[in-house]
Amino acid sequence: MQRDDTMTKNVRNLLLAVLALLPGAALAGPSGEALAFTCAGCHGTDGSSVGPSMPSIAGMDPEVFVDAMKAYQADKRNATIMNRIARGYSDEQLKDMGWFFAKQRLHLTPQKHDAALAARGARLHEKHCEKCHENGGRPGDAGTLAGQWMPYLDHTMADFLSGKRDWPRKMKRKVDAAIAEEGKQAIPALIHYYGSQQ
Ligand code: HEC
Ligand code: HEC
Repeated sequence: MQRDDTMTKNVRNLLLAVLALLPGAALAGPSGEALAFTCAGCHGTDGSSVGPSMPSIAGMDPEVFVDAMKAYQADKRNATIMNRIARGYSDEQLKDMGWFFAKQRLHLTPQKHDAALAARGARLHEKHCEKCHENGGRPGDAGTLAGQWMPYLDHTMADFLSGKRDWPRKMKRKVDAAIAEEGKQAIPALIHYYGSQQ
């Protein structure tokens, strides 16, 4: 009996000690959500931007997010503004924000697109891009294409093609193949396909 009481007391003390630690942990630094407030003006409060040259980052894979931010920090990725913004954050803070945005649902805004061009893009995507950009390019470990803002995709593809942004491994070959197949309409067709997804 005596022994049971002591056990109960020990368990209670342990719980109290754990509880006492929690607020301390919360004070250690702002959470990913609090850090993400800074991004809301351009990327939307929950990572779904109101476009069209600000990409939506809701649902982004956390590793792709951190890689993108580090590439901006190191000026390895062409940017109008993100290189300066990214430099303000530590690795730990980037991880916290990455998890916050990964958990947000991507809200897609209908975009004006050419249905015939989008249909050609769908075929090109299936053949050349789906292997890495799964489910029609929905958020995954190669970023977000489906429903992404078309002007942003347009800039981004131009950056790849002009060498301002490094190609992800093995992607160039596939983009070249799509262009060889469809001519100069290939890139607009793909972008209209991504923009057509809601
Ligand atoms: C003043 C507007 C602005 C603010 C504020 C801003 N961004 Fe951006 N963000 C952009 C633009 C524009 C791009 C496209 C690259 C460029 O031109 O710099 C971008 C691109 C990105 C990308 C790449 C998306 C992809 O699909 O690869 C990520 C990730 C990102 N921003 C994260 C953030 C985070 C996190 C914050 C807050 C700490 C933030 N941004 C604040 C404008 C902004
Ligand atoms: C072998 C895999 C692979 C293939 C095939 C591939 N990609 Fe990618 N792509 C990636 C990866 C990985 C990224 C992630 C970002 C990075 O590393 O910069 C990416 C990023 C992108 C981005 C930039 C997204 C952003 O938010 O900035 C676009 C646009 C894109 N791919 C379009 C395409 C198109 C169109 C095709 C087909 C013609 C294609 N990709 C085929 C692997 C691939």
